[in-house]
Amino acid sequence: MGINIGSPGSADLPMKIKLLEPEASGKSRIEELIAKRRSIRQYKDKKISESIISRLLWAAQGISSREGLRTSPSAGALYPLEIHVVTGGNEELEPGVYRYVPEDHILVREISGDIREKLSRAALSQTMIKNATVSIVISAVYARITSEYGNRGFRYTHMEAGHAAQNIYLLGVELGIGTCSIGAFEDEEVKSVLKLPVNEEPLYILPLGYI
Ligand SMILES: Cc1cc2nc3c(=O)[nH]c(=O)nc-3n(C[C@H](O)[C@H](O)[C@H](O)COP(=O)(O)O)c2cc1C
Repeated sequence: MGINIGSPGSADLPMKIKLLEPEASGKSRIEELIAKRRSIRQYKDKKISESIISRLLWAAQGISSREGLRTSPSAGALYPLEIHVVTGGNEELEPGVYRYVPEDHILVREISGDIREKLSRAALSQTMIKNATVSIVISAVYARITSEYGNRGFRYTHMEAGHAAQNIYLLGVELGIGTCSIGAFEDEEVKSVLKLPVNEEPLYILPLGYI
């Protein structure tokens, strides 16, 4: 029960309730991760392995139920998001751009070659995209959801992108990997650099790197 720190007043007057201190450390792991989460813009020059990338992709949009439901909530379970991996290469993956397919938990190569510098330029030359060995890009096919919910589907899609990005942030804290959700970029340039289909819009770029 909270402690009333305001005047007793009548029932319909505003009353301040002092909440218990947040359990930011120790008590539950998830509260500790939430407390430690920050946007990180500088990374060590150390490659991120495919197995770590796989875990971060699963956290964003992986399948977590027998019925095919995913790790992030989705209005009507219509899943308008697409996830791409932009990598400068590691032991297992050639430099390029890959699309994540949640149903099979696989990556499909879409572009060969290192496009990180071009992607950074398309995002107002934000250097962390160029410096990160890997970035995850969250994009959306709005038609999948506006067909059911009309214009409200745009709002739902953006909310869902936030859920997915937060999952990446929080698992990143656990793995010692920092990220920064980037929304400032030229849409058409990012679309062109990533060769996205016309009906797919980029929403978020999340560069990843060891802290
Ligand atoms: C929708 C959105 C867009 C953002 N775009 C950028 C961006 O383009 N570049 C950047 O450096 N940070 C960006 N950020 C990160 C914010 O600057 C950051 O979350 C804020 O400074 C608070 O810091 P914290 O995340 O460490 O708590 C964005 C965050 C959000 C939620």
